[in-house]
Amino acid sequence: MAVAWTEDLSVGVAEIDAQHRELFARVDMLLDACNQGKGKQEVGRLLGFLEDYVLTHFGVEERLMIDRAYPGFHEHKAEHDYFISQLNQLKLKFRSNGAAVNVVLLAVNVSVSWLQNHIRKTDKAVAGFIGTAGAEVRQV
Ligand code: FEO
Repeated sequence: MAVAWTEDLSVGVAEIDAQHRELFARVDMLLDACNQGKGKQEVGRLLGFLEDYVLTHFGVEERLMIDRAYPGFHEHKAEHDYFISQLNQLKLKFRSNGAAVNVVLLAVNVSVSWLQNHIRKTDKAVAGFIGTAGAEVRQV
């Protein structure tokens, strides 16, 4: 296991923690596959997963930040939007080049960087602000 969600990453909202845990597991599957020389088979699955994930997960977090009048909302949302643009570029490369080595490496870089920089720092900052373990997230 190369990357794994740990309790210190909890934002105190069960739904968001579950989504983060799932993302770590999916990225870990890609890293494992790369270690076994099978990254090309796995990268398409990760991209397919991320297509739905960004809509669902970012929506949940953004509603929470709006509900709590989180002062860093716009900066946080800008990171979400940037990730979506990176994902769109990756999907274009995947469609035109297939699972070429550079596409696999880019997918690894983008996803691992996201875990380390966004979830570990930007998402945790939200948790620090709301400071409410077990907070409820408004359903739409
Ligand atoms: Fe968990 Fe801000 O993405």
